Amino acid sequence: MSASANRESAITNPGQFGRVAVVMGGQSAEREVSLNSGRNVLDALRAKGVDAHAVDGIPALLDALRAGHYARVFNILHGGAGENGELQGALQALRVPYTGSGVLGSALAMDKVRAKQVWLSLGLPTPRFKALAHGADAGSSAEAVHAAAREIGFPLIVKPAWEGSSVGVTRVFEEKDLDAAVALARRYPGDLLMETLIEGGEYTVGILDGRALPTIRIVPKGEYYDYNAKYIAEDTEYVCPGLDGAAEEEMRALALAAFDALGCSGWGRVDVMRDRAGRNYLLEVNTAPGMTSHSLVPKAARALGIDFETLCWKVLETSFERERGVP
Ligand SMILES: Nc1ncnc2c1ncn2[C@@H]1O[C@H](COP(=O)(O)OP(=O)(O)O)[C@@H](O)[C@H]1O
Ligand SMILES: [Mg+2]
Repeated sequence: MSASANRESAITNPGQFGRVAVVMGGQSAEREVSLNSGRNVLDALRAKGVDAHAVDGIPALLDALRAGHYARVFNILHGGAGENGELQGALQALRVPYTGSGVLGSALAMDKVRAKQVWLSLGLPTPRFKALAHGADAGSSAEAVHAAAREIGFPLIVKPAWEGSSVGVTRVFEEKDLDAAVALARRYPGDLLMETLIEGGEYTVGILDGRALPTIRIVPKGEYYDYNAKYIAEDTEYVCPGLDGAAEEEMRALALAAFDALGCSGWGRVDVMRDRAGRNYLLEVNTAPGMTSHSLVPKAARALGIDFETLCWKVLETSFERERGVP
C-alpha cells in the first residue's frame, strides 16, 4: 500500500480544522508565485467556512505557532525552506500538523539529483544525467563540465539541482553554448544537473490523497515550458487527460510510484517527459505545487469534477495523515 493510501474524506465540519495558518511568500525565488497561490487557497478555504489566515514566511509562522495562534498549517510556500524539509522539521518539532509531504519526502524531492538516484535504484525511468558539485573548486572545473556534457551528448539540459519554476534552466544544443548555461545555473544553490534533453511531449501528473489525477499534456507556444509559459503567457495549451487508454494509465502509475519512492505524501505533482517513441522519463516531484489560476493540479482536479475550493479542503485534510503516523 502506498504511504499516502486513499481514504474516505474524514472531515465534514470546517471547525474540525481549528484555526489554520496558510503560510505563503517567504524568501525563495518563487516568492511571488507563492503569494499568488496562497491568496487563492486562503479565499477558497474561507469560502468553505474554514478559519484560515495568511502568514508570510517561516519566521512569522513559527512565532505565531509558539504563541498558540494556530492549530494547523496549510503550506503553500514554493521552493526554499518551505519545500525542502526545513519547515516540515520545525513543524514536527512543534507538534503542529501540516499539509503535504514530511521531512524526508520534501528534502528528497527538492534535490533533483538524489531523487533521480532513488528512481534509478528502483528501475524507474529518468533522463540520463551528470551531477557536478556547486563550486568550480569542488571538482567541477570548466574541463570537468565539458567532459560530462560530452559523455551525455547534445542536446542536453542544464539546471540547478534545487530550484523550481524553470529558474536557471537552459537547453543546450551545441557545446559552444554550454558555458553560458552553466554560469546561469550556478547562480542558484545546489549542485549542477545536466541531463539528456528529451524531445517529445511534456506532461505533469497531480497526486492527491494516494491517487494520481488525470495527466495534463502541456503544449507551450514557445520552445519549452519556461517561466513565461508557466506564469505569464495565456497561449500555453493544456490537454487533460493528456493521453488515452493504457498510455494514460501507465503514466499515472509511474507518477504515483515516483512520488511514493521519494517518501512523499498528501499531495504533489510529478513532471514527466514522453519521447517520440512513447517512453516516459521522470523529471521531478513538486511537493507544494502552484495553486494559481494557471496552475496544473487545479486543472487536473477539475477534470475529475473537483472544484478549486474542494481541492483546497482535500489538501488541508492531508494534514491529518501524519497525526495518524504516516511519515
Ligand atoms: N530532460 C529534459 N528534457 C526536456 N525538457 C526538460 C528536461 N528537463 C527539464 N526540461 C524542461 O524544463 C522545465 C523545467 O524543468 P524541471 O526539471 O521540471 O524543473 P523546475 O520545474 O523545478 O524548474 C520542464 O518543465 C521542461 O520543459
Ligand atoms: Mg518542473
